Amino acid sequence: MRKIEIFDTTLRDGEQAPGASMTIEQKYEFGLQLSRLGVDVIEAGFPVSSPQQFEACKLIADNVKGSVIAGLARAVEKDIDAVHGALKGAETSRLHTFIATSPIHMEYKLKMTPDQVVENAVKAVTYARNKFAQVEFSPEDGTRSELEFLYRIIEAVIDAGATVINVPDTVGYTMPDEIGHIFSSIMNNVPNIDKAILSTHNHNDLGMGVANTLSAIKNGAGQAEVSMNGIGERAGNAALEELVMALEVRKDLHEIETNIDTKQLFYTSKMLSTIIASPIPRNKPITGANAFSHESGIHQHGMLSHRETYEIMTPESVGREDSEIILGRHSGLHGFSKRVKELGLTLNEEQIGNAFKVFLSLADRKKEVFDEDILQIAGSVLGKKSLFFELDYFNVTSGNAAIPTATVRIKFKDEATEEAATGDGPISAIFQAIDKATGLTGRLEEFHVNAITAGKQAIGEVSVVVNIKGNVYNGKGSSTDILKASARAYISALNRYKLALENAGA
Ligand code: KIV
Ligand code: ZN
Repeated sequence: MRKIEIFDTTLRDGEQAPGASMTIEQKYEFGLQLSRLGVDVIEAGFPVSSPQQFEACKLIADNVKGSVIAGLARAVEKDIDAVHGALKGAETSRLHTFIATSPIHMEYKLKMTPDQVVENAVKAVTYARNKFAQVEFSPEDGTRSELEFLYRIIEAVIDAGATVINVPDTVGYTMPDEIGHIFSSIMNNVPNIDKAILSTHNHNDLGMGVANTLSAIKNGAGQAEVSMNGIGERAGNAALEELVMALEVRKDLHEIETNIDTKQLFYTSKMLSTIIASPIPRNKPITGANAFSHESGIHQHGMLSHRETYEIMTPESVGREDSEIILGRHSGLHGFSKRVKELGLTLNEEQIGNAFKVFLSLADRKKEVFDEDILQIAGSVLGKKSLFFELDYFNVTSGNAAIPTATVRIKFKDEATEEAATGDGPISAIFQAIDKATGLTGRLEEFHVNAITAGKQAIGEVSVVVNIKGNVYNGKGSSTDILKASARAYISALNRYKLALENAGA
């Protein structure tokens, strides 16, 4: 058995995905979970890019133990210094620097000659090696780079002290056989490659992320860069849970081990989905709602006779024995604090105790308490209540002979604003009224409704993607009333916008 290191980039490449931005506290909570999951390296962010990125990296480096903490830097001293400043408190830190090496990137983006690129890369790695014991170098757009040039720059940066060489498929263009050839060629043609770990990082533009990662591993990669739920730039990165289970289920074929505790996969996936308010697609491998459900009679019969007829892994092996916890007045402190953590909120013991009291009194009045309520409760305990819009009241009239009209009352900083609007339908009327009451203008880009409990009394969960001033924000809301769930979802997206503003120091 060969051991592969899992490098998780959910908090860096993943967070670059539209709508996936997280607060500093959410990143910290997710960082703690990644370490429980057993990832070898957590790429915490890109510290030079904003004070919030710096703070999040620092918080993770100071407090998350058991995994190496990495930070990204362009091949310039200022970026490397920022990573150094942010990761000082880490048990073990890693500097990850990159510069593009493909002809198209060098000519049009960097406007540098290949010689200049090598010179910059060597300079950056030399500078970084004086500050970090672990230095990772990525030739960006590596899989579209000329092989001879890759050999040259990789040899030079290893001589300068690079300890990990990550060859990314930046634009998700490469096919599994091709990447296998690239990795085996590097292994056979770079004379000092044995002094570094070779790593693979694959984007999913053509759906090849995991397949390419497996092929690179087969041909010499000792580290795989992946993200939870596959989030990342454009179509995302190879999904951690898919890669790990492919290695686990087909151990007979790959003969590869990882440090991942596979029983934490489902929880980690759900936690991320909750934090970024982005539902897991039902047919998503490993963690989607349908991944272990058997519909057809023939399949059900097979399953009942012998599970392995239609199941190649057990739901328990990925931690799916947990049934959905619905919070209500019978819930205990344990379930409540678990949900608070899943939402990426950091509350100390006293704050959790106070929040739990408010939760119990609310649960006494309501049948079920939803994520938006918990966000409000935690916000008030943390003194951030004033940041959030709250739906106080709404009323809608609609019908085949009426103009859909909505009235809403929104609370903000203990003041209530009431507005009315008409729309093409009841939901658009509600959204327009909310826009008026909050003074924000959102453009609805996506709208989905799912039933999260069964039967006629089903609770509907609405997820929205709203564009505000050119950036997109996810929102989720639930209720037995779809209109109410829609209003909540829309307001939760507006609140994410407000949080992003606060994080950006605006
Ligand atoms: O996709 C990419 O090339 C990257 C690098 C920074 C490794 O994310
Ligand atoms: Zn990437």
